[in-house]
Amino acid sequence: MFASRTNWNLAENRIARALADHRSAGRLLIDLTLSNPTAAGFSYEQPAILAALQDTASLCYEPSSQGLLAAREAVANYYQEKKAVVSSNDLFLTTSTSEAYAYLFRLLCNPGDEVLIPTPGYPLFEFLAGLNDVRLVRYPLIYDHGWQIDFASLNCAITARTRAAIVVNPNNPTGHYAKPAEQAQLAALCAKNNLAVIADEVFLDFSLDYTPATTFASQDAALTFSLSGLSKLCGLPQMKSAWIALSGPELLKSDARKRLDVISDSYLSMNAPIQHALPALLETRFKFQDQLLARARANLVALDDQLQAQSNCSRLACEAGWNVVLRVPATRSDEDLALELLRQQGVQVHPGHFYDFPQDGYLVLSLIAPKMDFAEGTRRIMAFLAT
Ligand SMILES: Cc1ncc(COP(=O)(O)O)c(C=O)c1O
Repeated sequence: MFASRTNWNLAENRIARALADHRSAGRLLIDLTLSNPTAAGFSYEQPAILAALQDTASLCYEPSSQGLLAAREAVANYYQEKKAVVSSNDLFLTTSTSEAYAYLFRLLCNPGDEVLIPTPGYPLFEFLAGLNDVRLVRYPLIYDHGWQIDFASLNCAITARTRAAIVVNPNNPTGHYAKPAEQAQLAALCAKNNLAVIADEVFLDFSLDYTPATTFASQDAALTFSLSGLSKLCGLPQMKSAWIALSGPELLKSDARKRLDVISDSYLSMNAPIQHALPALLETRFKFQDQLLARARANLVALDDQLQAQSNCSRLACEAGWNVVLRVPATRSDEDLALELLRQQGVQVHPGHFYDFPQDGYLVLSLIAPKMDFAEGTRRIMAFLAT
């Protein structure tokens, strides 16, 4: 009865089972996988957020395939602050970046066409691609004095069916930015092979070590779709508000705009209250980002203090984002290690394979966890590794 694309293995995995056991036994849990900003103890500008949702203009239905102009203008201003000129005419609002990916896969790919994704990388791509009959082909990021794109491998991964290269800037969980030279090289390679660039920039504003962020929205060598949204920028995933910014050669851009217009018009998925609220919600990002960055930087300093006092593990360089990668001894699988940490220490972490690390020896920790949890959780991890 069901489509083969939904033939997923839905059995509970070992970690989910162990977590359920842990919880039902009433044991305390230190969650170092925390990714929900609304559950992380940040303070939000509650009156401004709630007032923004009460605009009486929301009582009228004004269907607009690209999204309401005032909302798109606020997004264009966001880019202007980053010295990127994005016209409101080149913006499409979506309910999430995940929905934006779905639109772009429908725009660019026939069933079985390929899209290149970075590895290590964010796990949701597998589902988004599968739901849209797109085949994912991985290109490696290499770690050598920081992370960088392995362009030789990326080049070899291109086939006659490749339609786009995804780049996550900064990447999750490795936390490195695509630097201007890399962006130019990627855009040139894509232009040469008639591929689009899809740049996921949801973490763009979260520079931990003050590395300057450069958005792909100024790239015009290749057809480029830059994605972002309120989910991470403002810590408001529940508001379901994101966008696609188009850049690139004028003719290609205009073709893409017309086609995206039809895709978007077929769903009209943005609701009115959020579109009217978007300019005010976007303004709340400054206070949210200040808090998040202060916490993530403090957690990194605390981690480095603990790492200095031992020699069993280290961390990888990390410029930006909400996660840090620990390099641990590969004396067992990362999943076994994560399970032991959960069962014996009450600490939840992500094993590297969750983010597609090609070998064992990596754990991913959330930097947005409250400071006391992070300090105690990392102390327990290190004590465990020392035994
Ligand atoms: C790299 C990356 N892109 C996109 C998303 C999802 O964003 P949204 O809530 O807008 O779908 C995430 C969520 O963790 C992410 O890590």
